[in-house]
This record gives sequence, structure tokens and C-alpha cells, in this order.
Amino acid sequence: MTDAFKLAWRYPDEQNRILISSLARLNGVAPEQILLGDGSSEILKICAATFTGKDRRLVVADPTFEAIADYSTAAGAETTKVPLTPSYSHDLAAMAATPNAGLIYICNPNNPTASITPKDEVRKFIGEIPQDTTVLVDEAYFHFADTPEYESVIPLIKDHPNFIVARTFSKIYGMAGLRCGYAVAQKETIERMRPLQMWDSVNCIALAAAIASINDVAQVANGRRLNSETRAFTVSQLESLGYKSIPSQANFTMFDVKRPVLPVINALKERKVQVGRLFPSMPNHMRLTIGKRAEMEGFLAAFRQVAA
Ligand SMILES: Cc1ncc(COP(=O)(O)O)c(C=O)c1O
Repeated sequence: MTDAFKLAWRYPDEQNRILISSLARLNGVAPEQILLGDGSSEILKICAATFTGKDRRLVVADPTFEAIADYSTAAGAETTKVPLTPSYSHDLAAMAATPNAGLIYICNPNNPTASITPKDEVRKFIGEIPQDTTVLVDEAYFHFADTPEYESVIPLIKDHPNFIVARTFSKIYGMAGLRCGYAVAQKETIERMRPLQMWDSVNCIALAAAIASINDVAQVANGRRLNSETRAFTVSQLESLGYKSIPSQANFTMFDVKRPVLPVINALKERKVQVGRLFPSMPNHMRLTIGKRAEMEGFLAAFRQVAA
């Protein structure tokens, strides 16, 4: 990043090209099948703008990551929210049955529940969706999932022109403040999305960091190990206090606080501990990001005070 700063006076064409070809190699696709975004948020926004509209609804799970619903509302589309199943996976049959769906958003692993939708169900669903509905699978938390029930769906792209996967450098690569993400899809699908993107939207410092992240072969394994150790510690501490977590496949966890969560969120904030926001369909659950061990100890000390 320091080296890239020396080139900050130029447009980032060269770094753009290098990152795209690295990502193409990493994912086993052609460079024309990658679209970089200013965070995967930009990818979500482009998908909403391209595939939703007045008569093309957005279909999402409830609860899920909310941003795409804001973007599609701005595109004039209505949103159908389909509750998660009792095991916190997407109810794919109900999502597929929604009429006039322009875009179906599958967040896997899902934010805020940290749960996965099993791979066999996702495969079947993608195989059955009609061509005029686009499916966007958001794999922001892909690297953290370690159950055999889960897989990335990038290998399915070759068979489905109506299918897009979003990825981000904000999570396992720790680049949330730098902003870089990407989409993988068939070339023609990427070409439909590209005109809705801002030119040169990813800056040269973020591109340099993303290229370095991919070249650092230890980074993913290291991030996964640190997260799973600290997550196991946090979840077991909560359990010993009598609070049960939904099994987590991500770098956050969601647990039942056995009372409305909003006053607990606010009480923690007064103690300078910031936890996840309220998700209205799960008003008694807290979404908790897994930070460093010392941060989680700080959270637990404050939580013991406010939840006593
Ligand atoms: C599921 C999911 N997708 C996308 C994003 C956006 O990530 P970014 O724009 O930083 O890549 C987030 C951020 O929290 C997320 O949870």
C-alpha cells in the first residue's frame, strides 16, 4: 500500500488489470467474468439497479443483510421478505415461488444469523430458477464456513447466465475500510452490469492491498484460525452465562439474550462496547462480531454487568 501511494496520481488501470487476472486465476474463470466493486456493496447496488425495477421485485430472506433492499427500493422495486426456516437457512422453495421476481438474494453464510443454507438445496434451487430471474449469492463470509454442508457456488456459474456471486475483501482479508469487492458471473451478465458501475471505482491503494492479500498464501488460513479460536472462546463463555448461540459459520455470532435486545445494545454502548444493530424480526437476539480476544473479554465483562 505504501508503494502504491507513489502511483496515486495516476488512474489505477494497471493494478485493476493485475487484480482481475489474479481473481480470475483464483476462481477458475476468465478475466471477463470478474467485475470489481468499491466493496461488494457496489456489486449489490449494481445488481439491484440492473435486475430489479417497477415490475421486478427483490426477494430476500428475513433477517438478512439489508443493504440490497435499500438499493432496490431506490430502483423502484418492491421487496418480498421470506422468513428463514427454523434451522436459520433460506426457505428456497418459498423464495422461488415468489411471483415477478427480478432478483433473488441469497446470503450464504447469512448475515446476521451466521447460519448456512445447505449446498444441496442451493444447487437444486439454482438449477430450477427460470432464466428471467437473476440469482445473486452473497459469499461475503465464505472463508469462515467450515461445515461439509457448505460450498461456494462459483463452479455453477458456467451453466447459468442468470447467476452472480458476490465476494469481498472486507472480511477474512480485513480490508473493510479500504473498500474492495467483486462479482463473478458469465461474461454477458457482467456486460449487462458494467454500464451501471462508476468508472475506476476501486482506488489504487485498495487494489494494491487486495493483490498483496491474494499473494499472501497464509492469510486466509490464519484469519480462519484466529476467528474460530476466538469465536469458540466467546460462544463458550456466553453459554456458561446461560446464553445460547446459533451455530456460527462466520466471523460473528448471534445469540438469544432472552429479553428485548435494544436496551442491552444501548447499555453496552454507554460502556463503550458496540455490538450489532437490532434486526426487527429477531428482537431478542444480539449479533456480535468476533474481534480480538481482548476485545471479546471487554465485551463479556460489560455484558455481565448489563445482563446481570
Ligand atoms: C453479507 C454482506 N454482504 C456485503 C457486505 C458489504 O461488504 P463490503 O461492501 O464491505 O464488501 C456486508 C457487510 O457487512 C455483508 O455482511
